[in-house]
Parts: sequence; structure tokens; C-alpha cells
Amino acid sequence: MRAVLLGTAAGGGFPQWNCACGPCEAARAGRLRSRTQDCLAVSGDGEDWWLFNASPDVRAQLVATAALAPGPGPRDTPVRGVVLTDAELDHALGLLALRGAAGTEVRATSTVLDALRGDLDLRGVLDGYSPWTWREVEPHEPFELRGGLVVTAVPVSGKRPRYAAASAVGSDWVVAYRVEDQRTGGVLVYAPCLATWPHELERLLADADVLLLDGTFHSAGEMGASTGGTHGQAAMGHLPITASLPELRRHPGVRRIYTHLNNTNPVLDPDSPEHAELVAAGVEVPPDGTVVEI
Ligand code: MLT
Ligand code: MN
Ligand code: ZN
Repeated sequence: MRAVLLGTAAGGGFPQWNCACGPCEAARAGRLRSRTQDCLAVSGDGEDWWLFNASPDVRAQLVATAALAPGPGPRDTPVRGVVLTDAELDHALGLLALRGAAGTEVRATSTVLDALRGDLDLRGVLDGYSPWTWREVEPHEPFELRGGLVVTAVPVSGKRPRYAAASAVGSDWVVAYRVEDQRTGGVLVYAPCLATWPHELERLLADADVLLLDGTFHSAGEMGASTGGTHGQAAMGHLPITASLPELRRHPGVRRIYTHLNNTNPVLDPDSPEHAELVAAGVEVPPDGTVVEI
């Protein structure tokens, strides 16, 4: 299987348009590498590609990735569909940019599908452009994706989007995905949103080759500290790196990559001590466009 890290930043991207924090200013000045919002493309056969999440930057991400170029027919695309980990705006709004692509299949838990029908009716909007197939993902029930991939969802968090704060539906707001290549047996785990270190992740890591993990914040108080804001003390539902890195150290055999990096995160700077600590632990924060072969 081949995975392309289309985007590796948290909501807002890096730099964020309305943020003057230290790292954002450094990115604007060209001293740090910019990053687009978290999104992943995976293929088992190099012909059928699946997006995991659809970021608001998806158009630029697709245009920048040769393997995802359209063809051979004038409106053919190798992008078969989108698999959503959650209903957050930074993971779902990109669906709007894909409107009109006939035959697109979207998979998500019933909780997420309901949110995208009720609280934020993307489904109603998109079906008016071209009827898509919206398919429910059952936690723990493996499903096949064309191209030789077998995917299993594992619920990891009850964090719901702010627009759905009052929603009474469901509980599977956030899942991680285990993606297995039927041909090679290679396993990728994609978990870009975690509030705690779930027990189930341990089980998934036991036979994983690569892990893409929520690296939103380095420390719990980071948001407030770098932007002068009042929120962030509870790390906004994201397990900080200071808490997940000790867990990752116990899995040296897995290629471990942090993604969904918030623009306040000091690991964005390769010269920071926080980044050096990751390097020493064998954990990576590779740039957008990185290709991982599994
Ligand atoms: C999150 O990851 O916590 C959300 O995407 C925040 C946001 O709405 O940008
Ligand atoms: Mn997010
Ligand atoms: Zn910033």
C-alpha cells in the first residue's frame, strides 16, 4: 500500500490566516515550512485511491499530487471516495470541493453521517450536484475498499464538533482506522484525533507497521500560552504530545508519525528542543506530500 500525507496541519493550517503566533509568523517569513490541513490518500494497487478525510485544502492537495491526477477519460479520477474519521470542519468541508464527481463513495460512522445530514447538511447540498453513496461504517466490522484494502474503524473519542454541541445522536464521533493491504499484509493506523490514549490503540499497534497520530498540541496549555487566548487549558480534546510520546516510546518497531499539527506547536520548528526530543525517540513530523510505502 502507498499512503500520501496530503496535509499534516490541524484546523486552520500553518500558517493560519488570522494567527500571529511565533510559528505562524515564521512560516509567513519562509523560515518554517507551511503545511495544509490534515488529509491522507491511500491506495493498495496504485490505481484506486481513497481519501481519509477531506480537508478544506483538498483541491490544492489533489492538484499537487501526480498519482491523484484525473484521467484517462476527461472526467475520470482515481479518487474513489472518502473515509471520514469524524465530522470536524477541517476533515469534512473538503467534500464540497469534490462535488459533482459521479460515483463518489463516502464512508463514516452513523454518528458522523447523521451530523452531516442534520447539524451540517453537507449531504443534502452534495446530493444536489451528483448523487453520492453514503455508507455507514460499523465499528470493529472490517470493510473492503477497492484496490485490495481492508479497513476497520475503532472508536477512540466522543469529541464532537462545536457545531454539533447540542446533538443528541450517537456516540461514535471519532474513530481511528486500521488499514490493511491484503496483498502485502502491511498495516497502517490513522488516528488524527485522540483525547486520551485508548486501550484499543495498544491492540492496533501490536501488528501495525505505520501509525499516523494526533500531534495537535505539544503541551496542554499551548493554545492559551502562544495566542493569549483563554481556551486550550484542556488541550481542546487532543491528547498532547507530552502525554502520547511516552506511549509511543513503547512501540519502537512501528514507524510513528505525528500529524494534525496545530500552528502553535513547537515541533513545527526543526531547531526546537521539542523537535529534537521527537527525533531522539525516532518519531517523525514529515512534511506535506510525504509518501509512505507499507
Ligand atoms: C479539532 O481538531 O479540534 C477541530 O478540527 C477544531 C476546529 O474546528 O478547527
Ligand atoms: Mn481538527
Ligand atoms: Zn499561529
